[in-house]
Amino acid sequence: MIRLLIVDDVESTREHLRKLLGFETDIEVCGTADNGQAAVDAAQKLNPDVVLMDINMPVMDGIQATEKLAQILPATPVIIMSVQGERDYLRRAMQAGAREFLIKPFSYDELVAAVRRVHQLEQKKTGLVRESDLGGAEGSVRKERNRGRVIVAAGGKGGVGTSLVSMNLASGLRRMTGESVILVDLDLQFGDIGIMLNSDHSRTFVDLLNQNEQGKLLDDDVLDEILLEGPEGIRLLLSPPTPELADLVQIDHLRSLLARLKERFDYVIFDTACHLGELSLEVVEAADHIVLVTSASIPSLKDTKLMLNVLGSLNVPDSSIVLVLNHTDSTTGITRELTEKNLQFTVAADIPYEPRAIGESILKATPVVLSQEDTDISRAYMRLVEYVLPADLRSVVAAPAGNAQQDKKKQRKLFGK
Ligand SMILES: Nc1ncnc2c1ncn2[C@@H]1O[C@H](COP(=O)(O)OP(=O)(O)OP(=O)(O)O)[C@@H](O)[C@H]1O
Ligand SMILES: [Mg+2]
Repeated sequence: MIRLLIVDDVESTREHLRKLLGFETDIEVCGTADNGQAAVDAAQKLNPDVVLMDINMPVMDGIQATEKLAQILPATPVIIMSVQGERDYLRRAMQAGAREFLIKPFSYDELVAAVRRVHQLEQKKTGLVRESDLGGAEGSVRKERNRGRVIVAAGGKGGVGTSLVSMNLASGLRRMTGESVILVDLDLQFGDIGIMLNSDHSRTFVDLLNQNEQGKLLDDDVLDEILLEGPEGIRLLLSPPTPELADLVQIDHLRSLLARLKERFDYVIFDTACHLGELSLEVVEAADHIVLVTSASIPSLKDTKLMLNVLGSLNVPDSSIVLVLNHTDSTTGITRELTEKNLQFTVAADIPYEPRAIGESILKATPVVLSQEDTDISRAYMRLVEYVLPADLRSVVAAPAGNAQQDKKKQRKLFGK
């Protein structure tokens, strides 16, 4: 079934199209919208396979909406409908990322054929992405832009929600971009990713070490064997099954692993333990983004402040730190404003306290961004996803709080303490 979103400001056109397409057995109109903004909102909610978009509409026109959709739902192709003579519009729509054009008046057959064509093409592309996950020859079609973006989730303190952030970030990134994602559990002694995702734990870091000869492990086939399948098609590398095995993992192993994973995956996400050891510092230094999680409590704020200082002394730019305030308790009264004032740092995302949603997610071993999309907590995690996308994929809404502002704050932090 191809799920189609129809966007046109004329109600009779929308209804006419909806009725006509109702006769097709392989096409289902999953929603309609009467302007570009409504289309973006509806698409985020409905996740349609194809969007059929008019150009001239109030509030936000079809070109702007296409541009936004290309950023936030790159796997949802847009077909633009326009009247003849709108050549300039067509060119702009093409630049905005539209996949097909239907020149009004178009025939019904042309419409149906266009919907099927863009959908088929998209499916083929997705197939290629999947194969590229496995490092096949098609791996080269993967976009260079994102290759090996490294994201490290860290908390100044234990139990602040770092692992839940990592899992939701990994799954949300995969869902939003369709690109390849690996989640590595670098909490080598007490990693929770395996249990939280109900993985079989049959293959872990230790298996990787067994393959290692003079630092030259990581043959493609071996790696594929050891990386488990996680939700939404992400891959997982789990921590060793028992804590005493953690010491077996040495810095050289991690270095060669990181290099291989960066070649193979678009996003490499590390969940870390709160302890700042040699291994976590290694990935912190390689990271494009550090997602620093603090809970809304005084001890956690204190430790987060220390972490920010450590990151500062490692010359990690403020602009690559994404500060997350996670409410693991409903009673502390510590707000976003208070946190920002205390840490002199902008909070990128504020995760609400939702024990029921989290409890259900852990019970079902499915991150909330995949199973409870319609909750505030899922939306908060998804906002976080946008902060770690490459700049050209970020939607305007999620543009970071502003480096200038953060750099100013950093100066204050360094000199005004
Ligand atoms: N937003 C939230 N709302 C409600 N409960 C939460 C929330 N975030 C985290 N929790 C609770 O906190 C617990 C710890 O979360 P998580 O394992 O992600 O933290 P962590 O920082 O990785 O801990 P550790 O230091 O043990 O690795 C969860 O099991 C859950 O019960
Ligand atoms: Mg953890």
